[in-house]
Amino acid sequence: MSATEEPAIVVRKVTKTYGSGATAFQALKGVDFEAKRGEFVMICGHSGSGKTTLLSILGCVLNATSGEVRLLGQDLSQPKESELAALRLSHIGFIFQAHNLIASLTAEENISLVLRLRGMGVSEAAAEARRKLAEVGLGEKTASLPRDLSGGQRQRVAIARALAGSPPLILADEPTAALDAQNGLAITETLRQLAKEHGHTVVVVTHDNRIFHLADRIVNIEDGLIQPGDHA
Ligand SMILES: Nc1ncnc2c1ncn2[C@@H]1O[C@H](COP(=O)(O)OP(=O)(O)OP(=O)(O)O)[C@@H](O)[C@H]1O
Ligand SMILES: [Mg+2]
Repeated sequence: MSATEEPAIVVRKVTKTYGSGATAFQALKGVDFEAKRGEFVMICGHSGSGKTTLLSILGCVLNATSGEVRLLGQDLSQPKESELAALRLSHIGFIFQAHNLIASLTAEENISLVLRLRGMGVSEAAAEARRKLAEVGLGEKTASLPRDLSGGQRQRVAIARALAGSPPLILADEPTAALDAQNGLAITETLRQLAKEHGHTVVVVTHDNRIFHLADRIVNIEDGLIQPGDHA
C-alpha cells in the first residue's frame, strides 16, 4: 500500500443501523473521525454509545450503513469482501472486547497462526509469537492453553496476537478491562510506544480513567455521535 499524506483513518458521516423495519436500531448517527499516522487516540463513552460499533467498522469487521471510510489511503465505502479480508489480515491488529482466543491452541500457537496465515514461515512465526508474549509479560506461558490462563493473561495473549507482525493499524476494545492497574498501564504504555516510536496508528476504546493520561487525544462518543470538544 502506498504511503499517503492523508490521515491513516478518515471516517465521514458514518451511520450504522442494526436490523431493519420495526426492530431497526441506529447505533451510529453520522460519525466524523480521523486519526493520523503515529497517533494514539482513545475513544470513551457510556455503555451502548456505539464504541464497539465504530471500532468494528474501523477494523473492517463490520460494514457501515452509509458514509465514507478510508483506511491507509484506501476507500472502503463500498468494499469487496476480498479487499476487507486482505486489509484485516495484513494491516490491522484487532484486540476484541471478548478476547476470541482459539481454545485448543496454546498461547504461542494462537499468535503464530495469524502470522502463518500472512505467509510467514513456521519457525519465524513461532519466534515472533514468543517475542510478543514476552513483551506483554507472558514469556513463561507460551505453551499454556487459554483455559489454563487467568482472564487478564488471556487478554494479554490477545494483545500480543494483535501486535504480532506489526500491523500499521492497531485497534483495541477495552484492552485493560480485565487487567490490574500495573498490567493495564504496562500494556497501554506498550501501545503508546508502538505509535510514538514505530508510527503505528493506535485507537483504543476504554472506560479506564487510569490510562487516559497516556492518550494524545480522547474522543467522547454519546448516543452514536462524537461529541464536540475533543480534549488532549
Ligand atoms: N448486532 C446488534 N444488533 C442490534 N443492536 C446492536 C447490535 N450490536 C450492538 N447493538 C446496539 O447498538 C448500540 C451500540 O452498541 P456498541 O456495542 O457499539 O456499544 P458500546 O459503546 O461498545 O458499549 P459497551 O461499553 O457496553 O461495550 C447498543 O445500543 C447496542 O444494543
Ligand atoms: Mg463495546
